[in-house]
Amino acid sequence: MNLLVTGCCGFIGSNFVKLLLAERPGWRIANLDALTYAGNRANLEDEEKNSPDYFFCHGDIRRPEDVERAIGMLPGPVDAIVNFAAESHVDNSIRNPGLFVETNVGGTAVLLQAARAKKCRFLQVSTDEVYGSLGPTGLFTEETPLAPNSPYSASKASADLMVMAWRRTYGLDALVTRCSNNYGPYQFPEKLIPLALTRLMTGGKIPIYGRGENVRDWLYVEDHCRGILLALEKGKAGEVYNIGGFNEWRNVDIARELLRLTGNGEDRLEYVADRLGHDRRYAIDSSKIARELGWRPLRTFETGLPETVRWYEEHRAWWEALLDRRAP
Ligand SMILES: NC(=O)c1ccc[n+]([C@@H]2O[C@H](COP(=O)([O-])OP(=O)(O)OC[C@H]3O[C@@H](n4cnc5c(N)ncnc54)[C@H](O)[C@@H]3O)[C@@H](O)[C@H]2O)c1
Repeated sequence: MNLLVTGCCGFIGSNFVKLLLAERPGWRIANLDALTYAGNRANLEDEEKNSPDYFFCHGDIRRPEDVERAIGMLPGPVDAIVNFAAESHVDNSIRNPGLFVETNVGGTAVLLQAARAKKCRFLQVSTDEVYGSLGPTGLFTEETPLAPNSPYSASKASADLMVMAWRRTYGLDALVTRCSNNYGPYQFPEKLIPLALTRLMTGGKIPIYGRGENVRDWLYVEDHCRGILLALEKGKAGEVYNIGGFNEWRNVDIARELLRLTGNGEDRLEYVADRLGHDRRYAIDSSKIARELGWRPLRTFETGLPETVRWYEEHRAWWEALLDRRAP
């Protein structure tokens, strides 16, 4: 396989590349990444130095010539494009929605055109946030209507709709995965778990939006990556596959669990003004990918969360180098 992956200097993409190089020997991977504030080339430094099958291309998915250049780094015709590249933080999308439209919608359209021209498979890495917000009960299935509430989730939903339109209009071999909140190594310290850990490790407090009652489903990043790989290899064109952990937590309870794992007390919580339009609850039904493709998560919070805490404790230099980086 010759694969173009995008945005793999970020959190999930860098874990995906590591998984592929370990478990799919012989696959060649070109990574196109614009190295925004969230992109960190050091995440794949060892792979860049040591793996003859990994190629890094500094460039932007919004620029067709950059996409072409990245594809040109592969030793043979490209078999698939997997799109991780995105602006990914809801808070930033509230401040700067235009950038989210340009990257997440415009960039995806450029990649879809490249996949069409190369007649290759296209997998869009999407999010459960496109479904909007749930009440206290129920789960998002692949049939749940799209009802995004933030500029971030609206831009991701728009990209998903374009993928399906390219499938129907041009017959593109395209599919979408939608995952719940990820946690694990290499996550930029702006998202809840690494933000909390890095605040605690620098003597600060964990900021909690509102009363911390918003509920999210959490999945270990490698389990997400295994789901994407299964969908890439065995998924049906035109389908959506939800990926989630059946692991719902209120934000305040995660914060308390992190306090417990790091030996801190409740005095290290700080309640702050709620996010605008904050979605109440996300919870995902991932039984389709389990039933049709045989996916199941290998980690639970009981194992994955302590491992993640340890990773941030042992990789202080990695996250300290990122603390001054700010989204535009
Ligand atoms: N983090 C989660 O919990 C989560 C859950 C579900 C889905 N997703 C989706 O998974 C994907 C990856 O998320 P993440 O958390 O790894 O994001 P991230 O913010 O950590 O990384 C994004 C990467 O994309 C790159 N990028 C941004 N704009 C680019 C552009 N114009 N051209 C090329 N590269 C560009 C950045 O440099 C960075 O390396 C996103 O599409 C996101 O919507 C994330």
